[in-house]
Amino acid sequence: MPMQRLSNKRVLLGVTGSIAAYKAADVIRRLREAGAEVRVVMTEGAKAFVTPLTFQALSGSPVHENLLDKEAEAAMGHIELARWADVILIAPASANSLTGLAHGRADELLHAVCLASDVPLAIAPAMNKHMWADPATQENVRLLAQRGVIFIGPDSGEQACGDVGEGRMIDSETIVARITELFSVGSLSGLTLLVTAGPTREALDPVRYLSNHSSGKMGYAIAEAAIEAGAKVILVSGPVALETPDRVTRINVESAADMEAAVKEQITAAEIFVSTAAVADYRPVNVQQEKIKKKENRITLELEKNTDILAMVKADYAKTFCVGFAAETQDLENYARAKLKQKNIEMIAANLVGSAATKTSGTFNSDLNELNVYWQGGETKLELGSKTKLARQLVALIAQRFSLHEINVQNENNVISLKQ
Ligand code: CTP
Repeated sequence: MPMQRLSNKRVLLGVTGSIAAYKAADVIRRLREAGAEVRVVMTEGAKAFVTPLTFQALSGSPVHENLLDKEAEAAMGHIELARWADVILIAPASANSLTGLAHGRADELLHAVCLASDVPLAIAPAMNKHMWADPATQENVRLLAQRGVIFIGPDSGEQACGDVGEGRMIDSETIVARITELFSVGSLSGLTLLVTAGPTREALDPVRYLSNHSSGKMGYAIAEAAIEAGAKVILVSGPVALETPDRVTRINVESAADMEAAVKEQITAAEIFVSTAAVADYRPVNVQQEKIKKKENRITLELEKNTDILAMVKADYAKTFCVGFAAETQDLENYARAKLKQKNIEMIAANLVGSAATKTSGTFNSDLNELNVYWQGGETKLELGSKTKLARQLVALIAQRFSLHEINVQNENNVISLKQ
């Protein structure tokens, strides 16, 4: 079994009208072997070569075919498909589909999805050598490449039509290897990230506790994205129902005090601290040794503040690049910026929760989220998307801000040593 380097990745595979359409079957097989979830969109032309049923069976999901199919649009329309994907791969891509893409046509479902999406687009062309060499095709390729589209192949060799030359689809092994590479940008290579995630539980007695609804999904997605970006990741996790991502070192904790102790123990190994945990702000002053009995009509719980772990890390380990999270019900920017300042951290990712949030993103257990990220002198918005996708964007941003931060620290050190 090959290493599942695409586990948790969602690949939208576009198949267009080329004799090489049948080779997409092998691409699907290899993508799935590598752990990817695959959904297939076929153009009209593709269906002349292979039936959707083949790809449905191989991908394990219904094939998407029509732009204006009421039923399909209700289930997963082009916008949802665009949001769903982490990468779009078109293999094979015909000369006609290159024209459609280069000119922003939305006549086919596949082209509309590409227009609506901002994830990487990879294209494996497949056509007759004269069609590939034609200036019109080459102009389309140039336009698309300029816009950041990744071309995989074509290969040269014997073609289905009997010609020999450049234009045939490159082998599926190479295609899947390139897709895997897309997810392993080395932006954090050599660095260690410490991530906290999930809720904490503050015991009242041996059987009861105070906690919150945090699912841990965002923190786990960040841990995974950081691994993809080449970092070593230590995940200090409260109780959640999530699997440990591949290659992540996970330390389980229950209470905020446990989390604080685990973070203190691990923090010296990390250059970057990402605090996604919903740490309980308070804990019961007295934890009863025996189960509390329901004798009284009214009882009072006395609570005391827990350590703010994030603020503690920044105060005691000043060199650590610290990223916090803020969930607010209103006035997002002001509250988030206040926390950035108060805790003296480098970056804060904030989202709205409760009635102010969009329907899909404002719940703890949601797979979707949207984030506003603030730092001193700057901000950016990460639009509504899957937590996996947002985590990748956030990790890329962290990597970028971290390297600028390092340059600044170095410059400051130089200035200090010059002064001395
Ligand atoms: N945090 C922490 N330790 C705590 C509390 C919070 O590390 N004891 C971290 C969270 O992981 C998150 C950020 O601090 O990154 C959240 O800031 P905080 O001010 O605690 O947010 P809220 O608890 O939402 O604050 P408030 O209730 O005042 O809005």
